[in-house]
Amino acid sequence: MNKLEILEKRKSCRNYKKKELVEEDKRDLCSLLEAPHPMGNIPGYELVFVEDGQRAAIKLGGFAGYNGVMIDAPHYIAVFSNSEPDNVRMTAYAVEDIVLRMMAMGIGSCWITVLDSYAAKTSMGWRDKDELVALVALGYPKEDNYFSRLFSNLKHPLVNPLKEGYAGLNLETKNDIPLREETSSFVYLDRWGNSTDYDELERRGLDRVYYYLKYAPSWGNRQPWKFIVDHDDIILCIHKNPQVSQVSENLDGGIAMYYFKLAMDENGLSGQWTFNNLDKDYGIPEDYWMTGRFTF
Ligand SMILES: Cc1cc2nc3c(=O)[nH]c(=O)nc-3n(C[C@H](O)[C@H](O)[C@H](O)COP(=O)(O)O)c2cc1C
Repeated sequence: MNKLEILEKRKSCRNYKKKELVEEDKRDLCSLLEAPHPMGNIPGYELVFVEDGQRAAIKLGGFAGYNGVMIDAPHYIAVFSNSEPDNVRMTAYAVEDIVLRMMAMGIGSCWITVLDSYAAKTSMGWRDKDELVALVALGYPKEDNYFSRLFSNLKHPLVNPLKEGYAGLNLETKNDIPLREETSSFVYLDRWGNSTDYDELERRGLDRVYYYLKYAPSWGNRQPWKFIVDHDDIILCIHKNPQVSQVSENLDGGIAMYYFKLAMDENGLSGQWTFNNLDKDYGIPEDYWMTGRFTF
């Protein structure tokens, strides 16, 4: 299964079997956490496997999760990084890669927001580490065949992906209504507000790329992205929201960057994200900020 196929199945899991990972999965996951990641050196970056989820959920209650409510899970990954925005985005990018790999191993997961890094670190004895930017709950999904059932919920799939593979699977309909407008509504050409249509994206070979972004997880599922296509560059902008911390905004940005890169690579349009040259005036409103520039 390639990464795009996994991406189409991606879904947060919040209900887990009361069962630890088997030794082999634990070992494989721990080597993933220690392996070099695609973003190079990130100051303060460290991923810690939390063995005793039950104890951690009690200690972290009030300090992490929406409204301080933790997701109960057999294990967690504690995600540490320097809190400078670029570092947080790169951290999210690296961690989302692990999230997709876990899915391929049959391990469900869910990002958890951290409300008070200092208190959480003190409670868990992690004061020597950099900022706790997020947690990831993980374990075997409670529902049997959790991942395969995700497919059966799709509206009228043209093919059954479990039997026939993914080629030809068309997910871009809901109650038989095409979702094409949804894709183009968050992409502008050259300048903010200059909307494009699906056919134009198709002509540029970008249609499928944006399609995959809707699978990217985000804080509160707010899907805060907009893109400006500027010739061979693509600018990612993220919506500011007073309810959302700067760290969470940057995590959302890094995850979107990861999905975008993956989809571009699979479309044969390889390029790189950079955080430089973000001073060009695209007429971006004050409640959005420029996250990065993808050059291909
Ligand atoms: C930065 C970030 C923080 C999140 N924090 C929480 C959380 O604290 N509790 C929770 O239940 N889900 C959390 N989520 C999961 C999102 O709610 C979820 O990804 C989103 O609703 C989309 O649903 P899906 O992942 O099933 O597609 C978080 C996701 C992100 C990216």
